[in-house]
Order: sequence, then C-alpha cells, then structure tokens
Amino acid sequence: MTFYVTTPIYYVNAEPHLGHAYTTIVADALARFHRLMGEGTRFQTGTDEHGDKVMEAARKADLPVKDFVDRISDSFRRTWDELGISYDVFVRTTQASHQWLVRNILNKLYDQGDIYFGEYGGLYCFGCERFYLERELEDGKCPDHQSPPTFIKEENYFFRMARHQDWLIKYIEDHPDWIRPERYKNEVLGSLREPLEDLCISRPKQRLPWGITLPFDDRYVAYVWFDALLNYLTGLNYPDGENYRKFWPAAQHLIAKDILKPHAIYWPIMLKAAGIDPFQHLNVHGYWQVAEGKMYKTVGNVVEPRSLVGLYGIDQVRYFFLREMVFGLDGTFSEEALRSRINADLANDLGNLFARSLGMAFKYRQGVVPAPQDTAIEDDEVVFQAQEAAAEFLRLFPEFEFPKALARVWEFVGHLNRYIVTTAPWELAKDEAAQPRLDTVLYHLLEGLRWLAALLTPVMPTSAAHMAERLGLGASLWAEPLPKTLDWGGLTPGTQLQKGAALFPRLE
Ligand code: MSP
Repeated sequence: MTFYVTTPIYYVNAEPHLGHAYTTIVADALARFHRLMGEGTRFQTGTDEHGDKVMEAARKADLPVKDFVDRISDSFRRTWDELGISYDVFVRTTQASHQWLVRNILNKLYDQGDIYFGEYGGLYCFGCERFYLERELEDGKCPDHQSPPTFIKEENYFFRMARHQDWLIKYIEDHPDWIRPERYKNEVLGSLREPLEDLCISRPKQRLPWGITLPFDDRYVAYVWFDALLNYLTGLNYPDGENYRKFWPAAQHLIAKDILKPHAIYWPIMLKAAGIDPFQHLNVHGYWQVAEGKMYKTVGNVVEPRSLVGLYGIDQVRYFFLREMVFGLDGTFSEEALRSRINADLANDLGNLFARSLGMAFKYRQGVVPAPQDTAIEDDEVVFQAQEAAAEFLRLFPEFEFPKALARVWEFVGHLNRYIVTTAPWELAKDEAAQPRLDTVLYHLLEGLRWLAALLTPVMPTSAAHMAERLGLGASLWAEPLPKTLDWGGLTPGTQLQKGAALFPRLE
C-alpha cells in the first residue's frame, strides 16, 4: 500500500500564517502515521509563485519578482523546517522541471483540440485570480475579498471543460467519498448542476508577464491555477519517474474549502483530458478563524506560526490543531483555548501521568523497569483499555477523525491516572508482601506509557521521542511498524529509565 499526501502549494505573496501551518501539520501527521504503519509514503508541499497576486506583492515590496519569490518561498521552507515538517519534496512552480511539465501537458491538450483560442469579457477578481459570474458575487463584490471585480475583455486560450462535465458528475456519484467530508461533495455536485463554462487558461503577457509561457503562443502565459495544479505531478516526475509509477493515483490532496472548485472541478477534468487517472481523495477542511472571520493574508489578521510555536512549543500547537478542529468544519483560534488545552490535556493529564509513573519507578525501583508478576483484574483492564484505545485510534486517525482519535487516547490516559489512584502504589511500597504487586502495577504504567509514546508519535513527534528516551527505549520504539509495536509487553523488564525535564511544562 502506498500513501501520497499533498498540501496546497502556497502563494508566495506573503509570509506563512497559521492557516497554512494547519494544513501542513495535518499532512505531516498523516505522513508520519502512514510511515509508522510501514506503508510507502510520500509527502509533498511547495509554493505557488506565478500570477497577478504574486507579481503585485513583488511590486509593493519593490523587488524584482524572482528575488521576491525566492525570498518568500525560502521563508515557507524554513518555517516548515523549523516546525519539523517531514516533507519529502518541496515543489516550486518556478523550477525548470515544473515549467517543462506544464508546457508538456499544455501541448498535449492543445494538439488534442482540448484548448482553443477565443475572446472573453467578464468580471475578474485579482485577489482570486479568476473570473466571476454575476450570480457568484455578494452585493456585487467578490465574496472572499469583499472588493468589486474589474471588467476585463481580452483574447485568450480556453480549455474545453464542458465535454467532461457528465463524466465528472458520474465519477463523483460512483465514488461517494472521493471528495470528503460529504458536505463538500454535495457542494461540488450542486455547482455542477449549472453547465460548466470553458476555463480561460491564459493571460496576455502585456498584462501579466510573470508566468509560464504557453508553448504554442509566446504572447501568453498560463493561468496560474492551470500551472499550479500540475505541481502534484511535478514532484513525482510525471510521466517517466519511478515515483509517478509508485505514488499516482494514490494521492490524498489536502485543501481548505477556499480552493474547492479548482481541485474538485478543474483538476479532475485536466487529469481526465490528459489521460491520467483521478487522484484518490480530495480532503477538505474548514477555516481557522480569529475572532471575526477567516484569516486572510490580504486582510492582515494573521497569526505567525513561528512565533506561536516559539511561545508554546511545536507539539503543543500540533496537538491543539488536531484535537480542536473537526476536519471539515471551521474552528476558532484563540490563545486562551490553546493554553487551556496545554494545561488540561498535556500538562495535567499526560504530563502528570508520565511524571508520577517515572517518579515512582525511580523511588521504588531505582528507575529500572520491574518484571510484572501475577495480574489482577485491574491490570488486565489496563491491557484491555490500551488495546481498545489503540484499535480506535488506528481506525479513526487515517479517516481524518483527529479529535475523536485523540479523545479516545485521552480516555486511556485518564484510565491510567485512575489506575494509579485505585492501586495506590505508595501504599504497596510500604508493605513487604505487596512488592510483587507493586512490580506489576509499575510495569503496567510504564508499558502503557510506551504505548502512548508510540501512538502519539504522528501527532507529537518531539514529545514522543522525549518519552521514548526517558523510557530507556530511544529509537528502538519505532523499529517495527506501529501495529507490531503495540503488542502488549514490548517493554523489557530491566530497562533503565532516564531522568529528565517535565514533558509539558504548565503555563501560568
Ligand atoms: N496557491 C493556491 C493553492 C494552489 S494548490 C495547487 C492557494 N494558496 S494560499 O496560499 O492561499 O493557500 C490556501 C490554503 O492555505 C488553504 O486551502 C488552506 O490549506 C490554507 N489556509 C489558508 N488560510 C487558512 C485558514 N484561515 N484556515 C485554514 N486553512 C487555511 O490557494
């Protein structure tokens, strides 16, 4: 089984913000999960560097466009590196191999008669880089940018989309979870009830010189979306690359709902016309909002991911993102909510469990993992709970049910905390005859923590590594694929535990 996950390639008209970080972190967590499951995994992200918006931003920054896009693209890459994002490939639409691929596909479609030359006049939003129909506007304004579009009329090249409309509708109906969650599938089917207009896929150079020159007419550059969507093939070295054979069509595209239409309509039709199989799934999430409305780079109410991570820690932010937002629905971001998750779930529940368990192992057993003796019913219950939690997590996580998957794991954390209370190891420690019982209880706690470290690795890789270190396991925790790691009893008695700093310091 192979798994190929992609993020949108982000526009380089401004620095990365929290919304970009969310999609990228979700992709990273999924990639780590599938790698841990032992599947061939590829994770691609990158930057979208052509188009009006980017050129306009370069002009504002008073820099040559190429210098400007290099700078911002670099900033995205550095941000992901600092956030420990484990991407396998970072695609830039200005790279030669991408330009070659776009021209190659354009030529093919042109030769086949899927592209024609014509004239079009319409309402154009420069922010969205697309034409709007009257009925799509709100009070005459672009619904996303709240600014009136400009009427433009010009000669351009058009991609025949209408001829694939029936195919697309049928494909969506035959593959009901292809676009998920369902609400977005319905939205796409809804918009396909109207006849599809052909897509204008060129921009005259005199208006927009910054783009990929059309191979069949050098007075024009390619429309930025036509160029950008193809990035998902560039990183696999379509058509001859080994990765293309290995990972296409296993693609799991991740996007927010803002770019549903290009991904759910243009992209499958482009693939279809080019004779390429459709991707596996389009996974659509909602918006993070701050106080009022979505975070827009162009509006300015953005939260800078690097400073947030600097303040709270990368795993804390990752956990919050995944625990807090139901994939597909909007979420409200506030530092207050983040702080309360950190204190309640991380510092109190997991952090204390970890500290108390290791603390007792040091206090009563010099930090050496004891061998479990005869088990009692409450110990067997721990094993049962661990297995249930793991099974649920392994089922829910790859289905994008992150809050449920994590809540289930936290039930197990709660179970272990209660197990400490009911078994009261500090009482057992006082009683000579209860020493075998104490060994068993400590073993179950430490083995439970090993499980938690393994399960939480995709979500909180740094903290999981810290836990593995303290449990005396180091990288051996990931020596086997995840399901095997979760065989109960993997922690070897006699293992020397390590002392160290608190897992999740409490915020005051
Ligand atoms: N360049 C295009 C995508 C081309 S993909 C072939 C683009 N870029 S973007 O920089 O505007 O990024 C949009 C994406 O960033 C969203 O689809 C989403 O993944 C992420 N987000 C941006 N703002 C967001 C929120 N406020 N909330 C959640 N995700 C957000 O569109």
